[in-house]
Amino acid sequence: MATDVHGPVSPQATGAPRAAHAVHVESLTRSFDGRAVIDRLRLDVQPGEFVALLGRSGCGKSTLLRILAGLDRDIEGTVLVPRRKAVAFQAPRLMPWKKVWRNVLLGLPGKPERAVADQALEEVGLSHRSGAWPKTLSGGEAQRASLARALVREPDLLLLDEPFGALDALTRIKAQRLVGELWQRRGCAVLLVTHDVEEALLLADRVLVMDEGVIAYETPVELERPRAVTDPRFAELRGRLLERLGVDTAADAA
Ligand SMILES: Nc1ncnc2c1ncn2[C@@H]1O[C@H](COP(=O)(O)OP(=O)(O)OP(=O)(O)O)[C@@H](O)[C@H]1O
Ligand SMILES: [Mg+2]
Repeated sequence: MATDVHGPVSPQATGAPRAAHAVHVESLTRSFDGRAVIDRLRLDVQPGEFVALLGRSGCGKSTLLRILAGLDRDIEGTVLVPRRKAVAFQAPRLMPWKKVWRNVLLGLPGKPERAVADQALEEVGLSHRSGAWPKTLSGGEAQRASLARALVREPDLLLLDEPFGALDALTRIKAQRLVGELWQRRGCAVLLVTHDVEEALLLADRVLVMDEGVIAYETPVELERPRAVTDPRFAELRGRLLERLGVDTAADAA
C-alpha cells in the first residue's frame, strides 16, 4: 500500500483537462521512532482553493507540509501534488552571501535572468531591494523576498508554514493582505499553516484542524471578501474553531 506518488495533477503539467484536485492525500502515515505523527490522514484541496491548517503545537502540521512539498518521502500512503509547487517557511531562509534577487532565483532550473526575480519582487513590493544583501532587510521585507522566491516558481500549489509568525502586528496584517491578493491574482491553491484563527478566517475558503494525526475538523468559510472580524458570522466561526482547538473562550472572557 506504500505508494509514494508525487505526480502531475495540474493542467499546466499535463495539458489534461482541469484536474479535480490540487492535492490528493489518502491514508498518509508518517512515523518518527515508531510513533505515527500522521496517521492515515486524508486530505483533498481543489485547484485554486485557499485552505488554512490549524492545530496545536506538535500535532504534525509542518510534517504534513514538508511531505506535500516533497521534502520528506519517508511515508506510507498516497500523495498527489502538482509538479509546480513552492513553499515558504516562518523563517525566510535567505542565503546571506547572495543578494536578494539571486536568493529569489536560487534553485530554479536553467539560468534565469535577473528580470524574472525583479518581476516577482515587484509583485511583493520589493523591487527596490533587489540588489540588497539579505541582512539589510527588515523582517517583513525578508518574508516578502521569501514569497517572491515562491512566486517565481509559478506554483499551482503554494505551501506556507506560518509565514507571518515572526512579524509585528501591522506588518503581519500587510503581509496577510498581500498573500490574499497574490492568491486571487495567481489563482493557485494555497495551504497555509497558522496558529492564528483570525488569520485563517480572513484568508481561507476552508479551515482545517489537525489532531491525533488526522484532519479532525473542517469548516468552509462562506463569508464575502474582504472579511471583517466584526462580522457576527466571523465571530461565530472563530468561537467554534477555538473550541475545537481546546481554547476555552468563556474562561478567556472571564
Ligand atoms: N525529524 C524528526 N524526527 C523526530 N521527530 C520529529 C521530526 N520531525 C518532527 N518530529 C515530531 O513530530 C511531531 C510533529 O512535528 P511538527 O513539526 O509537524 O509539528 P507542528 O504541528 O508543525 O508544530 P508547531 O505548531 O509547533 O510548528 C512533533 O512531536 C515533533 O517532535
Ligand atoms: Mg510547525
